[in-house]
Amino acid sequence: SRDSDEVALGPTGGPSWRTSKVAIVGAGAVGSTMAYATLMRGSARTVALYDINKAKVEAEALDLGHGIQFMPMAEVVGSNDIAVCADADVVVVTAGAKQKPGQTRIDLAEATISLIRKVLPPLVEVAPNAVYVLVTNPVDIVTYAALKISGLSSTQMFGSGTVLDSSRLRYLIAQHTGVAVQNVHAYIAGEHGDTELPLWSSASIGSVPLLEWNGIAGRGPLTSEVRDRIAREVVESAYRIIEGKGATNYAVGLAGSRIIEAVLKDEKRILPVSSLLHDYHGVSDVCLSVPAIVGARGVGDRLEVPMSADELAGLRRSAETLRAAARRFGL
Ligand code: 2OP
Repeated sequence: SRDSDEVALGPTGGPSWRTSKVAIVGAGAVGSTMAYATLMRGSARTVALYDINKAKVEAEALDLGHGIQFMPMAEVVGSNDIAVCADADVVVVTAGAKQKPGQTRIDLAEATISLIRKVLPPLVEVAPNAVYVLVTNPVDIVTYAALKISGLSSTQMFGSGTVLDSSRLRYLIAQHTGVAVQNVHAYIAGEHGDTELPLWSSASIGSVPLLEWNGIAGRGPLTSEVRDRIAREVVESAYRIIEGKGATNYAVGLAGSRIIEAVLKDEKRILPVSSLLHDYHGVSDVCLSVPAIVGARGVGDRLEVPMSADELAGLRRSAETLRAAARRFGL
């Protein structure tokens, strides 16, 4: 019957939209906003929110559910019972300690790793075939820890990495040049944190290499001073937002739902997610972000992005920082 055709695998190998389910772990600012963004974008048929705080998770699901009339067709459920995540196609982990003003993401590692140790095994039990996306900070270290703890493959499990930072970079470049952000192609690589770096040498605006951009409509080129300022602003973004409102949620919620969509729709999108690297420009045994193909199975090939000597050195520095931190936390 037509019905059974429709519940079969989607045309590209992912689950069909009618059966697609994402489980979001953590109903805090990030998890709830990600659920909202996922529903608004129509990324999944079912959004399940899971949190140990029963009152909070039920209230968030209720509030989200009341908005479904104004969204693409979907369903939202919320529970403090982990069974709500059963058979999810994608599990996104946002639960963790909150970054206080002045704290770095790495300062959160110890608390987060012990939480991951608790929450991950039962999750994998109820959703063994899901693609796992870690969002909790410090995301690169948490992803590395989660791989060790779960034993899942490095294809099936990765971190949201610098998808958000790259969107911040593109936003700032778009503001400087006056060009639509969708036409700016630029990536932040490395740690989702203080040692991250923009890949300027491979960036482009439309089809013009960014480093050859001469400016338009009275707006100047991206000189090294402008680039340095933009790179600094990207790194400082989260600190500035946390200072002002206590957490970041909107852009990260959208970035997360973009990743969810790439998996559920098997899009083969190029996204700078954090994954376990094996000899990527000589970098191994560390999770960090480089542009990679994301589809139904998770993270696939990493792009062999040509890098300048400075960028290579920056990437290796970032890898070293993350590896040292992982060692410090006994990973
Ligand atoms: C962010 O970059 C804090 O990692 C979070 O917004």
